[in-house]
Amino acid sequence: MRVPVRILVLGGTGEARVLATRLAARPGVVVTLSLAGRTRDPAVPDCAVRIGGFGGAEGLARALGAVDILVDATHPFARHISANAEAASSATGTPLVTLERPPWQAVPGDRWIRVGDMSAAAAALGAAPRRVFLAIGRQEAGAFRAAPGHAYLLRSVEPVAPGDLPPGAETLLARGPFPEAAERALLAERGIEILVAKNSGGAATYGKIAAARGLGLPVVLVDRAARPCAAATVEEVLARLDHLTAPVISPPRSTAPSAKRGV
Ligand SMILES: NC(=O)c1ccc[n+]([C@@H]2O[C@H](COP(=O)([O-])OP(=O)(O)OC[C@H]3O[C@@H](n4cnc5c(N)ncnc54)[C@H](OP(=O)(O)O)[C@@H]3O)[C@@H](O)[C@H]2O)c1
Repeated sequence: MRVPVRILVLGGTGEARVLATRLAARPGVVVTLSLAGRTRDPAVPDCAVRIGGFGGAEGLARALGAVDILVDATHPFARHISANAEAASSATGTPLVTLERPPWQAVPGDRWIRVGDMSAAAAALGAAPRRVFLAIGRQEAGAFRAAPGHAYLLRSVEPVAPGDLPPGAETLLARGPFPEAAERALLAERGIEILVAKNSGGAATYGKIAAARGLGLPVVLVDRAARPCAAATVEEVLARLDHLTAPVISPPRSTAPSAKRGV
């Protein structure tokens, strides 16, 4: 591997930001963080940042011509970019390290209704009208147009086009992290009866899950397929990168005969 080692981090998560910051501080590493460009004023670390899609797996494969290691640290529900990362890595032989935070696990008191996708989440709300908190971001809000009988409150970082909302839905613009106490206050104040969330894992958005448990509210939780080979934490990714780049950036080893392997 050449020096400096060029690492492209596919981001859009807090972990990607932390990882890029940690890598940027390392000698012998040049890191670029890639963002999709969905958020207008994204928080960015002190390293090179590129914004916007690559043009599918082929476009990403072309971009990998100037990259030694690819890290997929995108959101667990960002499936297209992750599939593209795998395809582009295989096509070019660029090593790929994947970071995926583990999903939340139910604890006593949780009233989870687990579903496989957003359409199933909309169906799980049932026929009786309820006050529903959609903590799912804006991209899949349209799925709830199929269940128009409920009173929805949708929270997102960026505004949602009215045509993408269920009829009569209220919206709330806010950016996490969302602590439990504030989530509890919001749910109580808005008279929420049921939540819909993705099982994203991590601490930044767990507050709503804990708040729902505290209030005895059910949560329709959208599951995701686990990726068994993924690293679960930033530390684990750094360890894998150390392993991949060991001959290039690790400190010089002792040359004393007793320290040599195979001699
Ligand atoms: N889905 C969620 O619930 C969620 C939640 C929080 C944050 N995010 C973040 O928001 C971004 C978009 O999520 P999504 O669900 O729309 O993704 P997606 O469906 O997997 O990706 C759609 C397209 O957006 C582009 N893209 C996505 N992530 C990119 C990145 N990091 N750098 C450059 N291009 C990227 C790619 O375009 P090309 O094919 O043209 O390359 C990709 O094919 C991701 O970075 C993700 O980490 C997503």
